[in-house]
Amino acid sequence: MEKKFKRTLVTTALPYANGPVHIGHLAGVYVPADIYTRYLRLRGEDVKMIGGSDEHGVPITIKAKAEGVTPQDIVDRYHNIIKDSFEGLGISFDVYSRTTSDIHNETASEFFRHLYDKGEFVEKTSMQLYDEKAGQFLADRYVTGECPNCHAQGAYGDQCEKCGSSLNATDLINPKSAITGSTPVLRETHHWYLPLDKWQPALEKWILEEHKEWRPNVYGQCKSWLDLGLQPRAVSRDLDWGVPVPVEGADGKVLYVWFDAPIGYISNTKELLPDSWEKYWKDPESRIIHFIGKDNIVFHCIVFPAMLMAYGDGYQLPDNVPSNEFLNLEGDKISTSRNWAIWLHEYLQDFPGKQDVLRYVLTANAPETKDNDFTWRDFQARNNSELVAILGNFVNRAIVLTHKYFGGVVPVRGALEPIDSETLAEVKTIKAALEENLDNFHFREALKEAMNIARLGNKYLQETEPWKVAKTDMERTATILNVALQLCGNLAIAFEPFLPFMSDKLRGMLRMENINWDMLGSDDLIAEGTELGKAELLFDKIEDDVIQGQLDRLERIKKENQLKNFKPEPVAPAVAFEDFEKLDMRVGTVVECSKVKKSKKLLKFLIDDGMEQRTIVSGIAQYYEPEQLVGKQVVFVANFAPRVIQGIESQGMILSAVNADGSLSVVTTINPATPGGKVG
Ligand code: MF3
Ligand code: ZN
Repeated sequence: MEKKFKRTLVTTALPYANGPVHIGHLAGVYVPADIYTRYLRLRGEDVKMIGGSDEHGVPITIKAKAEGVTPQDIVDRYHNIIKDSFEGLGISFDVYSRTTSDIHNETASEFFRHLYDKGEFVEKTSMQLYDEKAGQFLADRYVTGECPNCHAQGAYGDQCEKCGSSLNATDLINPKSAITGSTPVLRETHHWYLPLDKWQPALEKWILEEHKEWRPNVYGQCKSWLDLGLQPRAVSRDLDWGVPVPVEGADGKVLYVWFDAPIGYISNTKELLPDSWEKYWKDPESRIIHFIGKDNIVFHCIVFPAMLMAYGDGYQLPDNVPSNEFLNLEGDKISTSRNWAIWLHEYLQDFPGKQDVLRYVLTANAPETKDNDFTWRDFQARNNSELVAILGNFVNRAIVLTHKYFGGVVPVRGALEPIDSETLAEVKTIKAALEENLDNFHFREALKEAMNIARLGNKYLQETEPWKVAKTDMERTATILNVALQLCGNLAIAFEPFLPFMSDKLRGMLRMENINWDMLGSDDLIAEGTELGKAELLFDKIEDDVIQGQLDRLERIKKENQLKNFKPEPVAPAVAFEDFEKLDMRVGTVVECSKVKKSKKLLKFLIDDGMEQRTIVSGIAQYYEPEQLVGKQVVFVANFAPRVIQGIESQGMILSAVNADGSLSVVTTINPATPGGKVG
């Protein structure tokens, strides 16, 4: 930290309350923000962590309509799930509120009104898409169509998810209403626009000149927006869900969700600190850090800062906007609508007591500089070979050996040998590296450094071998275990921001009452004579069947999605009956069936066709075991010219149906048919 600040406000992107929180949200925003906040708290700094649910916006109204409930029902449901699950994972918000609160309504309303009175908006009339069937204007997610830039289908009225460009609903080619599916018409409406172009020079100076230290992905995205030239942006919508536009003649209009949501950071600070909230926002000696995902960059670095500048009255701009790339799941983009996610509330149920494992894996794999992939196998490996084998193992050995040789009482440290002092000194070096990384939002690297203390501990025990020394020299054994316990104490501090549950448990065993960051690096954390608690395992192994259960769940979801998205192929052009009759299809009984050697796909059949029996080779080996098919009746085309496949002459083709997931189902008869009988 170059500049010294008096206090820090950490904000976390407000998740939409239209679904639960998943590992993508956690890795991108909440886990890093929580690590940072806990770190500052440990340093004794004045820091507040602000969160809340984003309860407005079109996706919520669409979901409500689909379920036949009110938008309020939807946000009540998910706000509670989200809030509880954050708490379950130890995300230590000072306040977690919501944008349907009264205080937010007032704050957002006042914010708009203030800009309106200052003449900061331009009011413009325009033609917008209108759904005549539904009787409402369509904006944002209410319209889908072809992207004018990359020509992908299914782009939304505010954004194309394929190429990432931000759009206006009227830009879409062949727009369709998401409510009724009908083609919208153009109708005149009017809205208030924030002229971002007016703030372009100020934003350029602030970002491009004064914040070169921002992460390259953030700086780069800002620069390309600025290079394109900023345009006025509408801050109201024709909708009946949101904060009503607080001026005359605005019936049926609400604030655009991206106008009201970031004001939620202010409302929630007010809710937390009714009397002192202002100093966190307006004192130049305070700093604001926005933790967000990459899809939020423009709103936090350009739009919201422009709103704050337009408001004036001393509002400070953020000092940094650490933004992460995306986390994928098993090689596929995480998606709420496709249910392709690991939901936090489900994880907490499936893995009770394993909050820290998820925190660890998401940090070790954090998508800080590029998109990353979460896999269950990696989750298992990191738990078993890092948390259990390195961290848990070291602590357990130190404490168990202290119980074994000294009845659980911290033994007296005698004269230090070089290996002892070098080991203890190394912790100080690690501390410096940890701070360097944490101060610069490099949480992945920081976690590695914390883990290095555990590696150091294992190496120390490996080299000093107290279990051998104990046979001859109890004094030396005492010194070694005392040093090892000091390392354990250091682990409890270094890991508190990352793995708070583990840290808590460890502190319990070591009887460490209060900790702070300054204590890290000390070689005198656990006093001689302290009676340790009993040794409990910090982590335990995760077995294969547990991981398989999770993989099976994902496999089921993949299948369900394929079924949901399956569209039968269009029916082929009509043919005359005579043409159909040219194909000679027969029923036959499978006499023998075996795998074709050196082929994954092929099965070789011997078919009783009521004539001479025939051999047919068919590409269905992935879907059936040969034994399953023997004795079954199949339908085959009998008059294809024979073909040689893998050296076998195939005399016909067995019919099967193509399924949603690309697999094949062989067509068979319900009741026994006569081999050789014609099918028609
Ligand atoms: N709800 C938005 C999203 O999930 C984030 C809103 S952040 C705020 O992408 F600043 F607007 F609050
Ligand atoms: Zn596109």
